[in-house]
Amino acid sequence: MTTTEKSAPTAAGSGASATQAFRATRQQGAGEAVSPERVDAVVRAVLAGVHEAVRTHKVTYPEFQAAKKWLIEVGEGGEWPLFLDVFVEHVVEAVAAETQQGTKGSILGPYYLPDQQKLPSVAALPSRPDEKGTPLVFAGQVRDVDGNPVAGAELDIWHADEAGYYSGFAPDIPEGNLRGVVVTDDQGRFEISTIQPAPYQIPTDGPTGALITAAGWHPWRPAHLHLIVRAPGYRQITTQLYFEGGEYVDSDVAQATKPELVLNPQDQGDGSLRSEYDFVLERA
Ligand code: DHB
Ligand code: FE
Repeated sequence: MTTTEKSAPTAAGSGASATQAFRATRQQGAGEAVSPERVDAVVRAVLAGVHEAVRTHKVTYPEFQAAKKWLIEVGEGGEWPLFLDVFVEHVVEAVAAETQQGTKGSILGPYYLPDQQKLPSVAALPSRPDEKGTPLVFAGQVRDVDGNPVAGAELDIWHADEAGYYSGFAPDIPEGNLRGVVVTDDQGRFEISTIQPAPYQIPTDGPTGALITAAGWHPWRPAHLHLIVRAPGYRQITTQLYFEGGEYVDSDVAQATKPELVLNPQDQGDGSLRSEYDFVLERA
């Protein structure tokens, strides 16, 4: 590792942290019993897809063994949360979205951490004294589907820093940095001061990165804000917001962008940005 790469997280480091975070938060459904009929139907379909790929592309023994080696390495590196969230979660989200009204959802990704600092409706996210990046004010209102403000709604927000790294998953970033739970005022309003994140690159030094290189793909996600918006009696929304004109908005490796989720920040004339976005929640 060279000194210029000092704070770049390794794939193994990010993978291990993401695996640990997943286990610690016991994501919804993890460990829940699934009926034999369901396991039979879904696993049979997955295997049928694999079998078909082998037949169609006449996969050879050396290729089969290379795949086995790669799968072992993904496990050893703790990279399953990264791999699955980049390449599979967007379809699970699309299925969930079929029954969801209000603000569009997007993938959770591997870097959510619960129990962050609670903040008032007008707040700055915790950041380092020398936090780099373009200052961004992100403001708006949470309403129900009938247009009524939702007071006391929580915006659980987290995002990468100006180098594209997340606190809790990269070395040298303080715990809780650029993360917080902002509570809306009696008009459902919020105004969050932070910085504009950079695009995120999947760590390229691990097996997921090796696959991306081997396949000739690119490893980038567009810059994004992550949000979970929740209020008692309402269906929780997990989503992400992107930046109009930003790199990779039209070529997200995780295929998790939607046209409704693109912000259009305005330059405030002093080098800072302001963006308005309203969230709409449906009843649970
Ligand atoms: C991954 C990282 C992200 O920041 C994200 O939002 C989704 C997926 C990943 O590395 O898997
Ligand atoms: Fe992310």
